[in-house]
Amino acid sequence: MSESKNITILTVDDNDALRYSLTRTLKEDGYKVLEARNGAEALRLADDCPDLITLDVHLPDKDGFEICRILKGNPRTAHIPVLHISATFVEAEYRVRGLETGADGYLAEPTSRGELLATVGALLRLKQAERDARLDAEEAEKARKELEKAHDELEQRVQERTLQLAQKTDEIRELTGKILMLQDNERRRLARELHDSTGQMLVAMKMALDQMSEEAKGHKIAPLVADTIAINEDMSRQLRTMSYLLHPPLLDEVGLPSALHWYTEGFAQRSGVKVELQMSPDFGRLPGDMEIALFRVVQECLTNIHRHSGSTTADIRLTRSPYSVQVEILDTGKGVAPDRLHGGKVVSGVGLMGIQERLRQFGGSVEITSHDNGTSVVAVIPLNRQLWEAV
Ligand SMILES: Nc1ncnc2c1ncn2[C@@H]1O[C@H](COP(=O)(O)OP(=O)(O)OP(=O)(O)O)[C@@H](O)[C@H]1O
Ligand SMILES: [Mg+2]
Repeated sequence: MSESKNITILTVDDNDALRYSLTRTLKEDGYKVLEARNGAEALRLADDCPDLITLDVHLPDKDGFEICRILKGNPRTAHIPVLHISATFVEAEYRVRGLETGADGYLAEPTSRGELLATVGALLRLKQAERDARLDAEEAEKARKELEKAHDELEQRVQERTLQLAQKTDEIRELTGKILMLQDNERRRLARELHDSTGQMLVAMKMALDQMSEEAKGHKIAPLVADTIAINEDMSRQLRTMSYLLHPPLLDEVGLPSALHWYTEGFAQRSGVKVELQMSPDFGRLPGDMEIALFRVVQECLTNIHRHSGSTTADIRLTRSPYSVQVEILDTGKGVAPDRLHGGKVVSGVGLMGIQERLRQFGGSVEITSHDNGTSVVAVIPLNRQLWEAV
C-alpha cells in the first residue's frame, strides 16, 4: 500500500463486489475511502465534503445522474469532482448525459486499475488547481479591498487637509487684507501728523527765523541766520515729500490720475528715470481703497525699476473699461532673474507679493513678464457695472 494521501473519496455503488473492488484499489493507492450503497447515503456522506465522489449510475433509490445534479446544485458540494463509473450505462449517450448533468468524468466498466487511478488523480489535480486559483483570486480580492480602503482613507485625509489648508489660506488672506488696510491707515495718519504737527512747527520756526534775519541785518550773525533759514526750508521740503509719499493728499482729494502725475514727476526728479504716464483724461474716480491699491502698485513698481532694473525709462499705462481697470508698468532694464520668476509670479520679496495681495482683495490679479531687455507688470481689477455707472 502506498503512503497515505490524506484525501478522502466517497464511493457510491449498490453492487457490493464492485464497490469493494473499487474501495480496495483506492485504499491501496493511499486514499481514505467512505462508502455508500444508495443515493440517500451518498447525499448524507457528501455533506462532509469528501475530495472526490465516484458515483454509480444505476442506484436503487435515485439514479446517479439525479444525485450528481443535486450535488452540483448545492453550493456546499458543488465543488466536489464527481466521477461516474457504470457497468450498465456504458454507451456514449449516457456518458454525454452524465457529463452534461455536471459530472467531471465518466468511466465505463470494465475499467483498468491504471485508468481508474489516473482519472481520479487528474480530477483531483484539477480540483486542486481550481482551489488554488480560487484562493489566489480571494487573496487578490482581499489585497484589492485593503488597497481600496487605504486609498479611501488617504483620499479622506487629503480632503481634510485640503479643506484645512483652504481655511488657513482664507484666514491668511483676510489677515493680510486687514494688515494692508491698517498699513494704509497708519501711513495716512503719519502723513497727516508729519504735515500738521512737525510741518507746522517748521513753518513757525521759519517765521521766527525771518524775523531774526530782519533783526540780524548788518550783524555778524546774519549769514548764520541765512544758513539756518536754508536748512529750515530744506527740512520743510523733505518733510512734505515724506508726508506726501506716505499718503499723497491728492489721492483722497482729486483722485488717482492727479496723484500719479504728481508722484511720477517727483520720482523722475529723484531717481533720474524718465517716466512716461499715459491715461485717458476722463479716467474718473474709483472707490478710495481701490485708488490707493493702484497707486501703491505704481509706487512699488517704479521703486523696483529704480532699485533692480537699471532701466532709464519707465512707461505707465492706465486704462479703464466698463468691466475692468488695468495698469501696466514697463521698463527696459535687465529683467527679473529667472530663478525669481515662476508662472508670472515673483517668488521672493515683500513688495510684489504685497501687490498681489492688494489686488486679490478686489478679485484682481497681477501678471509679471520679464525678458533680458525689460519687465512688464500688468495689474487688473474687475469692475462691476453699478460701480462704473455710479462713479
Ligand atoms: N523691474 C524689475 N527689474 C528687474 N528685477 C526686478 C524688477 N522688479 C522686481 N525685480 C526682482 O524681483 C525681486 C522681488 O521684488 P519685490 O519688490 O517683491 O522685492 P524687493 O524689491 O527685493 O524688496 P521689497 O520687499 O523692499 O519690495 C527683486 O528683488 C528683484 O530681484
Ligand atoms: Mg520691491
